[in-house]
Amino acid sequence: MGKRLPKIGLLYMDYVLRFFDRSNFRGWPDKIESVVYHWKGDEERFIREVKRKKIDVLIGNIPATAYETFRRIARELPHVRFIPSLDSQFANKSKENVTRFCWKYNIPVPKTYIFYDREEGMEFLRKTSYPKIIKRSYGPSNYGGYYVHKVDSFQEAEELLTSRRYCPIYVQDFVPMEADIRVMLIGHKPVCAFWRRPPEGHWLTNTSQGGSMDYMDVPKGVLDLAVKVSKAANAEYWACDIAVGKDGEYRILECATAFAAFPYIRDWIGQYLMWLLSEGRFPKPNIPIYNWEELGKIDSSLLRTMRYITFGRYTPSYDGAIFLHRQKVDEEGAVHKIWELDEQYPMEAVKERDFEEWPSEEWDFSHRCRGFWAQPAPQGTEGGEEHTFEEPSEEEELPYTEEELWQFLAGVLGEKRAKKITKQIDLFNIAYNLEHQPEALLEIKGIKEKRLQKLLEGWETFKRNREKKGEIETSV
Ligand SMILES: Nc1ncnc2c1ncn2[C@@H]1O[C@H](COP(=O)(O)OP(=O)(O)O)[C@@H](O)[C@H]1O
Ligand SMILES: [Mg+2]
Repeated sequence: MGKRLPKIGLLYMDYVLRFFDRSNFRGWPDKIESVVYHWKGDEERFIREVKRKKIDVLIGNIPATAYETFRRIARELPHVRFIPSLDSQFANKSKENVTRFCWKYNIPVPKTYIFYDREEGMEFLRKTSYPKIIKRSYGPSNYGGYYVHKVDSFQEAEELLTSRRYCPIYVQDFVPMEADIRVMLIGHKPVCAFWRRPPEGHWLTNTSQGGSMDYMDVPKGVLDLAVKVSKAANAEYWACDIAVGKDGEYRILECATAFAAFPYIRDWIGQYLMWLLSEGRFPKPNIPIYNWEELGKIDSSLLRTMRYITFGRYTPSYDGAIFLHRQKVDEEGAVHKIWELDEQYPMEAVKERDFEEWPSEEWDFSHRCRGFWAQPAPQGTEGGEEHTFEEPSEEEELPYTEEELWQFLAGVLGEKRAKKITKQIDLFNIAYNLEHQPEALLEIKGIKEKRLQKLLEGWETFKRNREKKGEIETSV
């Protein structure tokens, strides 16, 4: 008889899109538990449930707003291995944390200034050169460049900050860039990478702003930087966005264990974790480097539905492994066979650490934001951010009409409230968020947790009814 396998639990949160489900761990012979965190006030119960279910390994991403709570929870569960660890998830919490993490490990980033003292920050902005980038560092959902602002003068910076009231004041030098590259890694091995290019004449490279993506010829130096960052984070799985500057330099823009990934990539992570946790009873998945150039030729609507993708291993005599015979030229002009490169980027076993690298006592500065913007916000601007909620174009299009979405929203909330909400965010974006990241809707004025719950329930009913209707329509 082999050794007992550890008991796996999947970590879920109300309102948060689930990164993994059981199907990502196909073949795991034991029951996989799941534990749902219900937010504020649920810590004790959550801890008891993990203990009662005798979970050894708790797998899942923790959203920014629950991060500090989970650092406490992890301390109460010293025998539970969190995957990724709370330290690996440090960068998920805020842009500030990404920066601090990169500073510590000497990882190149745009020059960044962080202020928890308002006067000091303003003084800096008065004297510095422009353009600069100002970002909201922390919040329930940071994506799509919506909280990233280019400012061209002190006056613009001051106007922005007094209306948005971000804390800390997080400023970066503006880095002119060609494009950025998203690299995803499993066990420090790059498994997917693609370029994101800004639309003509724009500086934001997020595909959410209408940019394009492609999978070809990601420079080797970018992969090397991504591996270095993944190792520094000791992350079982990881993604980073790397800016390719017009000056030819590579810099980290963002990195995290939480990212949008096609289901087949989540399957690979599941297989990797099964290998890792079973001490070799399950095979290590074989995911050749540059596979993304091949898979990227497949239409993305198909890729989105493909599952359990596997590859043959390279053998010199087997010419079926065509793409592994291809060659790549690196930045220095050296030529590498892909199968050789594949050996240069091994998938490694990430080991659990027995210390805390980023304890909250030292690294959580949120208390310094109390009273940061002591004077009241100017009339009409308080919480009055417009919400456009632009979304990644790599996600599916929504098949709904505006009319039926309005019927749904007005039906659940009443016309008056529905109108108030559509002034802040359009109907398609509401639908998108309900599908993909409902918690983002908590930023809308007039949507709190209870109402979001109602919307989610209504949404399920709406979709069910629509399906039924569709069946009738196609059957006639
Ligand atoms: N310092 C910078 N200089 C130039 N462009 C930047 C800078 N920081 C971010 N950007 C652009 O803004 C986009 C969004 O910034 P990012 O930090 O990734 O925030 P978000 O969480 O909104 O994705 C990036 O993809 C990049 O195109
Ligand atoms: Mg980004």
